[in-house]
Amino acid sequence: MMRAAVLSVTERRTVRRLVTETRMGRAVAGRFVAGDRLSDAVVVTRGLNDAGMAVSMDHLGEHVTSVDEAERATGAYVDCLHAIEDERLDANISVKLTQLGMGLDDDVAAKNLERLAVAAQEAGTTVTVDMEESEHTSTTIDIYEATQREHGNLGIAVQSYLRRTAADLDRIVPLGGHIRLCKGAYAEPEELAHQDPDDVDASFDRLAALLMSSPRVVPAIATHDDDRIEPVIAAGAARAEPWEFQMLYGVRRDRQVELVRAGHSMRIYVPYGEAWYPYLTRRLAERPANLTFFARALVGR
Ligand code: FDA
Repeated sequence: MMRAAVLSVTERRTVRRLVTETRMGRAVAGRFVAGDRLSDAVVVTRGLNDAGMAVSMDHLGEHVTSVDEAERATGAYVDCLHAIEDERLDANISVKLTQLGMGLDDDVAAKNLERLAVAAQEAGTTVTVDMEESEHTSTTIDIYEATQREHGNLGIAVQSYLRRTAADLDRIVPLGGHIRLCKGAYAEPEELAHQDPDDVDASFDRLAALLMSSPRVVPAIATHDDDRIEPVIAAGAARAEPWEFQMLYGVRRDRQVELVRAGHSMRIYVPYGEAWYPYLTRRLAERPANLTFFARALVGR
């Protein structure tokens, strides 16, 4: 309910302009976003690597409106992969298929993902496909499956709020790769997604247990929720194969460090680029306390 309300306000054009065109709005974004440029993300990534954490670099953008825009986004990711190789970063990339053209021309998106899979192979790293709104779930999995079968160096995010996810994993797990389990960040209807946070959590715990007992995949447990983290640590103690925690840049930094000190693998999702507004609104909608910053951005022009 809260998420849907926040996202519907932030989608208004006037609100978007107020936030993106004020210094305060950009300052709020700075908590969650490495900066506008690839070089900003490289600096942040190196710092996290030095602190013992791997990174997933996300060049912000989604729902492109032209094939040219999709090609430019793909090119920006290729540059990012070159930087990962040249700077010897411990990092991979996270991509949204609607940024590569999905929804506009799905074949273009598939070709662009393929280009990234090849570039990632050359850079010695992997590509994670983010999961977006539920209208895109089936196509995202179709494109992922085809590219993963061909290249084998991909992973995908799945959302515990979606009722379909357990069935999707029947198809995704045999493909190997890394599977990022998250709760889900979009406003979704009741018939498709659990609305009660307890149900989302129960689903998360079930899916986490399933992934942690699947030797074929690398589970990437993406949450800041201690109640979800604890059972995974217990399952991890009995697991011989690799797995990792994932958290967002700027969220629960203290816990990130603690888990690394306790010997767990941690990957931080580091977004960068100028198209930060939709990403910021999802972070605000996750936590009512963040709205105080948002309100200040609106009045502190
Ligand atoms: P929950 O929301 O219950 O938060 C637990 C605690 O963490 C809170 O009490 C608070 O302390 C802290 N916290 C969480 N979010 C915060 C915030 N924004 N600001 C400040 N504190 C916060 N979603 C999606 O739909 N598709 C995707 O591909 C991804 N990808 C992804 C990658 C990674 C690495 C992560 C960590 C998350 C995602 N997500 C995502 C987002 C995910 O679905 C979810 O919305 C957020 O992680 C918040 O959920 P938590 O599991 O952290 O629990």
